[in-house]
Order: sequence, then structure tokens, then C-alpha cells
Amino acid sequence: MNIWPLTAEPPFTVGGVELTAIAERFGTPAYVLDEEHVRHRCREYRKALHPHRVAYAGKAFLCRAMVRWVREEDLWLDVCSAGELALARSAGFPPERILLHGNGKTPEDLAAALDYGVGRIVVDSSTEVTRLAALADDLRHPQKVLVRVTPAVDPHVHRAIATGVEDQKFGLSLASGAAAEAVRRVLGQPSLTLAGLHCHIGSQIGLTDGYETAARRLVAFMAELGGLPELNLGGGHAVAYRPGERGLDVQTFADRVPYAVASECAARGIPRPELTVEPGRAIVAAAGVTLYRVLGVKHGVRTFVVVDGGMSDNPRPALYGSRYAVALAGRRGAADSRPVTVVGRHCEAGDVIAADVPLPADVRPGDLLAVPCTGAYHHSMASNYNQVTRPPVVAVRGGRAWPLVRRETPEDLIRRDVG
Ligand code: LLP
Repeated sequence: MNIWPLTAEPPFTVGGVELTAIAERFGTPAYVLDEEHVRHRCREYRKALHPHRVAYAGKAFLCRAMVRWVREEDLWLDVCSAGELALARSAGFPPERILLHGNGKTPEDLAAALDYGVGRIVVDSSTEVTRLAALADDLRHPQKVLVRVTPAVDPHVHRAIATGVEDQKFGLSLASGAAAEAVRRVLGQPSLTLAGLHCHIGSQIGLTDGYETAARRLVAFMAELGGLPELNLGGGHAVAYRPGERGLDVQTFADRVPYAVASECAARGIPRPELTVEPGRAIVAAAGVTLYRVLGVKHGVRTFVVVDGGMSDNPRPALYGSRYAVALAGRRGAADSRPVTVVGRHCEAGDVIAADVPLPADVRPGDLLAVPCTGAYHHSMASNYNQVTRPPVVAVRGGRAWPLVRRETPEDLIRRDVG
């Protein structure tokens, strides 16, 4: 699986644009996003999973251009806050193709979703059912909801992103009866319609067996309820972050998981539900490259290469122990390489971008570094730690580069500080 964007000639150009030119024009650090790659992945998913529904999970990366691309590629959109919904709405995404998620939706999230008329709301607790039902009371049509179920499937990924197991905050347990109780509540509310069930067993999952098990368990539950129109199996499809790694192959997923659903439905004598999957990372991760400028090189027990970004634009190594590849992008370096640890500028020893990665032995201050596979959960998880301003997102396509999200400035920080 490729870790660079489709149009890249690594490590020098993406979308026909020199990375050095992007760094000069937009500064560093900068997130670069390959539009063609995003669209290509949307099409691959649509094609492999046809006739099933594909919803892009906006939490991986969202801006208005991304909303437009996803709309034009005919996907649905999964949002998990009033903020994500506001972006989708301002870019004119059709409300009937939006799903709202969240284990703790605020009254504002729910009100915004009802106001825009989103297609589905995925309920995650019994109290939420009651709250939503009251808010939905004056709608002209009942609101379609899915109940998020915890199927007790362990996808064997980092604990922070394993969400289908018991004893974590997401979903309603099948085993304890909480899911059945939530279903009963939904059925008792005239302002709500139970459209189906949902589960999301985790993220960065490389094999399909967990999905098959979860799907079978949810179908069994559906059969107890006499069948339901929709089954949403969430996202979580893994991508390769470094050379030699493998992601989840969408074609394998498409060959196996709908089959598991169909055979379980047949065994239990219920009609097949419409299927939805919600990939985020698999659509956008490899479309993104982050550019950094080297600020210094420090020799000691290890060699540290210090760059002008860090955990504020990529918290994933610190949060999940994620590993990345790094390339010298601005010039051809010395023929021999040596292992270095690329670190950020933040006031924490854990602020590491990539430990023990090979870089040309003559890497020096002023060099441009490119980190591939940074399109998902980078911009969306960026922070202002140390009052560092967040990088811009620059789109590339056909030899052209243009800004999607501008760089934050110290004035932005001061403007919010109203005390
Ligand atoms: N659907 C639901 C309900 C989700 O909660 C998520 C992700 C997705 C779909 C999309 O999952 P994906 O296909 O992108 O794996 N910040 C972490 C990932 C957290 C995922 C949260 N939920 C990371 O950087 O690895």
C-alpha cells in the first residue's frame, strides 16, 4: 500500500507542484493535500462497495473543500459535532446524506442536526433517546435514528481506538441488554423512527474478521427485533503509514463483510438491511503530506533533528505510539544515511515526530522534510499548545497549489483572548 499521495513523485513533488515551492509560498509547517488522491479513494470505495452506502467520517479531516469533494463523489458524510455540521452546511452538503454521531452530543449538537434536517442520528445512550425525542417533537416527520451497539469485538488495536469492546464509553452493550433497552425507548417515541443499528469497533483495523463477527452479532440482534432496514458498520479501515506496512484492502472488505451479513440474514430468515460503512482515515490519510523546516541538528547518544512543528500539528506519536516515515524533500542529500530522531519544538520530551528514521547523513538546518500519510487526524487534532499557531492546509492538483485553510497567526490567538 502506498504511503505517498497518488500524484506524488516522492519526495519532491505532489500534484505536479514542487514541495519546495509550497514551502516558500505558504511557509512551514504546512499540510499538503492531494485532491486527486482524495477523489480517487472516494471512487475506489464507492466502486468496491456498490450498491452499499459509503459515508466519509469527517473527524479524520474536514474543511469546506473536503465537504464539496465528498459531495461531488456522491458519498454520505458522518459528522460528530455542531462544528463539523456547520462546515458541511456552509458548503451545502445535502442534509439527508448526513449522519450525526457522538457519545456525548450536546443539546446544541442535536438542535443543529434537527434544524438542518440530517438524515440519521446515531443514538448512544438511553437518556439521549429521551432528549432527542423531546427536541424532535415539532418536526413534520419523525427523525430517523440508528442505535449504536457495542458488539464485544476486540479489533486488537491501541486501547485508545478500540471502541467495540465492553467497558469503554461508546455504544450500548448487547450483552447487558442496554442496546435492547435503547431500542425499546426509540420504538416508544412517536417523534423517532428506528432505521437500524450501528457499530464502530475501532480504528486502524487491518483485518476483516472483527467486522464479520460484529456484523453477524448485529444481524442476530436485528433478527430478535424482526429485522430492520439499515446496518451501519462504522469505519476503522487501516492504512499503511510506513513502507512495507499493509492497510485494510477495501476489495477484500467488500468481498467478505457484506457476505457475512447476507449469510447471517439468510440463516435467521430476515431481509438484508442496507449497509453503510464510514471510512475516514482510509479516504484521506495518504492524500496528506506535512512539510517541516529543520531548525537544528543535535548530536548526542542519538541524533535529534529539530523541526518547526511537532505535537501541536501531529499528536499521534505521543497519543498512540504511531510511527512515521520522513524524507528529505528539498534536495538530494548525501548518499549515505543514518538513523535520526525527528523531534518537534514543544516543551515536552515526548514531542517526537519519528524516532530512529533514516535520513541523509548531511541533513542540516534549513532543509525541508516531508512526512507522508498525514492527511487523517492531523489537522483535525491540531492544537495551540505553547501558543503555537496551526499550519495551513494547501491543496494541490494538476500543477497548481491553493490554500484551503490559512495559517493561524498570533493575532488569531490574541483575538480569542478577551479577558
Ligand atoms: N465512524 C465512527 C462512529 C467513528 O467514531 C470513527 C472514528 C469513524 C467512523 C472513522 O474511523 P476511521 O475510518 O477514520 O478509522 N484519532 C485517532 C482515530 C480516532 C477514530 C475515532 N472514530 C487516530 O488518530 O488514530
